[in-house]
Amino acid sequence: MASSFSSKIGVLLAAAGSAIGLGSIWKFPYEVGENGGGAFLLLYIICSLLFGLPLVMNEFLVGKLSGKSAFGAYRELSGSNKWQWMSWTNVICVAAVMSFYFVVTGWCIYYMVEAGAGAFEGMGAEQLREHFEAFEGKTLTMIIYAIIGIVMTGAVLWFDVNKGIERLSKILMPILFVILIAMAIHMMFIPGGLKGLHYLFHPDFSKITSKVILEAMGLSFFTLSVGVGALVTYGGYMPKDQNVTSTSIQMIVMVLIVSVLAAMIVFPAVFAYGFSPAEGPELTFVTLPDVFQNMVSPRITCTFFFALMCVAALTSTISLMEVMVAFICEASEKTKHPLNRHKSVLLVMLLQIVTNTLVVLSMTGEWGWLKVMGNNLFDVLNDAVSNYLMPLGALGISLYTGWFVPKARYQGSRVASVVYLVMLRWIVPLAIVIIFVNNFI
Ligand code: PHE
Repeated sequence: MASSFSSKIGVLLAAAGSAIGLGSIWKFPYEVGENGGGAFLLLYIICSLLFGLPLVMNEFLVGKLSGKSAFGAYRELSGSNKWQWMSWTNVICVAAVMSFYFVVTGWCIYYMVEAGAGAFEGMGAEQLREHFEAFEGKTLTMIIYAIIGIVMTGAVLWFDVNKGIERLSKILMPILFVILIAMAIHMMFIPGGLKGLHYLFHPDFSKITSKVILEAMGLSFFTLSVGVGALVTYGGYMPKDQNVTSTSIQMIVMVLIVSVLAAMIVFPAVFAYGFSPAEGPELTFVTLPDVFQNMVSPRITCTFFFALMCVAALTSTISLMEVMVAFICEASEKTKHPLNRHKSVLLVMLLQIVTNTLVVLSMTGEWGWLKVMGNNLFDVLNDAVSNYLMPLGALGISLYTGWFVPKARYQGSRVASVVYLVMLRWIVPLAIVIIFVNNFI
């Protein structure tokens, strides 16, 4: 795959493709809605710039300097086997992310098909909500659509057609950008829409609690793909003269823009059409079809939009699955049963089919006993990933690079500034620990 990225812009787009996904378009709006609006948005932006930036740079650098994937990179850079556990935490975390991410990818594919069939035409808020609830009860349908997502991702990695995906996303991602901007502008002018923007951009600081701060930080890590080794892989593909700092800044700005645009579409719709901001994970899916009702050729635009959402989701699942596939290939290399790329892809697909099926069964209540402390597996994983696993992964990588990678390794790269080291050694780890612990006391 190393040959897949032809240029600097290729690496940037692939990394942005990994980062921009359901996190920005699905998770971000509903978490803003559940956590009270503007103040949460502000915290999210602060976390992305303050912690996200050094961490993104950091992961790119680990990949670039070691030239390895998340499996060998940590060992290679520190020159010690002691750090192998970081690779293991990465792989556990990506497995956990994928176990519910494919379920939501399946929702996107299903909604694209439904929109194409004109299923949403003429539906109001209440009907759209009922439509989603009915879908949530269809266990088999949800499993099949999640599997379609898994197979599509596996096929990309199997045939090594990343170049094709790269080309495709070079065209489709800018289109997604333009459509999001057009929709956000459109939503500013619908009657009652401004209330949504007020909710989004007027921080109510009384809404900030320790849990809200942790969620904002976790969400920023999730949307930036930080703390699971996904960006390490892309760092490994960077040409020697690629500037890590500017690539990271560009990537983060793109993610922030897409997230905020998604919220600027969803919240005016929430207030104008009578949804609740705290609707939960279905928020994007119930509001968007309504947004298209009043636009030109609603059926076509709605279908096209969900198709773009599928592409955004797939460029993220590709990066997630790649971490696990590379890990399995490399980890099995020296054993009696080495697994080549194809076998690893198959294994990961199988594992994901099992875990996503379990998640759906627990979610729809078909296997109602499959719960952790009264919560279904979807909620448990969704919460665990952004509020526990990713912050811990980020803590690990900042301590590792700040303290244990010989400083000499950074010399020669422009980012080895004092500020950067102070951030990695002290500020980021301390902040993560404080935010994390504060949530429990
Ligand atoms: N950043 C992706 C999104 O927002 C999710 C992701 C997390 C991808 C971790 C890769 C690694 O949808």
